[in-house]
Amino acid sequence: MFDFRNGKPLKVLLIPKGLSHAATSFVESLKINSISEKARRNRRVVIKRRNVYGVRAADLINFYFRAAAIPIRYLSEVREWRRWEARCFQMLNGDRFRAKVRDSRTVTLDKLPGENLWDHMNRGTLTPRMLKAAGSEYRRAHHFKDEEFGSGWSHGDASMTNVIYNEKTGRARLIDFEIRHEKSLPATARHADDLLVFLLDLVSRVSSRQWIRFAICFLRAYGDAAVIRPTWP
Ligand SMILES: Nc1ncnc2c1ncn2[C@@H]1O[C@H](COP(=O)(O)OP(=O)(O)O)[C@@H](O)[C@H]1O
Ligand SMILES: [Mg+2]
Repeated sequence: MFDFRNGKPLKVLLIPKGLSHAATSFVESLKINSISEKARRNRRVVIKRRNVYGVRAADLINFYFRAAAIPIRYLSEVREWRRWEARCFQMLNGDRFRAKVRDSRTVTLDKLPGENLWDHMNRGTLTPRMLKAAGSEYRRAHHFKDEEFGSGWSHGDASMTNVIYNEKTGRARLIDFEIRHEKSLPATARHADDLLVFLLDLVSRVSSRQWIRFAICFLRAYGDAAVIRPTWP
C-alpha cells in the first residue's frame, strides 16, 4: 500500500510514530463534541455539539499532531468545523439526507439508517458485503474534487466508527468530518492514509485469517491501483 511515511510496509506501520490511526483513537478518547439524537418532525436527527472547552483541547491536539509529524489537523475553530462537517455530509449524503448548521456550536445531521462498522465488528456481525460497500463508498468519496484540497477529497479520520452501513440497501455512507488531512499532502497519500486507518481498525480486532479476507474485499471494491500499490523498496 502507498505510504507517504518513507514508503514503509504496512507491518512496519503498526506502531509507528506519525500514524493517523493511533492519533485519531487518542483524539476520540478526548470527546470534544457531545452527540445526541432527537425526533424532528417526522425524521430522526443526530445533533453534534462542540463542547465549551473544545477549541482549546483541539488546539492542544493539533500541537501534538504537529510535534509527532502526523499529517492531520483537528478543525479547532468552531465556525470552520461547522461549515466543513455540514458541507462534507451534504456532498456525500445530500442525495437523500440533510445537514444543517443550527447555532454557533451545533450541527444537525439526518440520522443515517444502519449501524457503524466498528459496532458490527465488535458484535461479530461484520460481513464481506459490508467491507465491499465501505470500499466502494471510499472510492466514490475520493473522486469528489474539493476546492479546499485543490484535488480529490479525503476523509482524514477514516475509522470504522465513521462508516454507517444500511443492511436494507447494502450501501455504506461516511460521517464525522472534524479532522482534515494537511493540504500539502498529495491526493494519493491522503487517500492511502484513509485506507490504512480503516484497515488498522480491522487488524486490531479480527483474527489474521479473517483480516486478510476482509481487507481484500475492501481493497478490491476500492479498486484504485495507484493508491493501493505498495511503494516500499
Ligand atoms: N448522521 C448520523 N447518522 C447515524 N449515526 C450517526 C450520525 N452521526 C453520528 N452517528 C453515530 O454517532 C457516533 C459518533 O458520531 P461522530 O460524528 O463520529 O462523532 P465523534 O467525533 O464523537 O466520533 C458515530 O460513530 C455513529 O455511530
Ligand atoms: Mg466518529
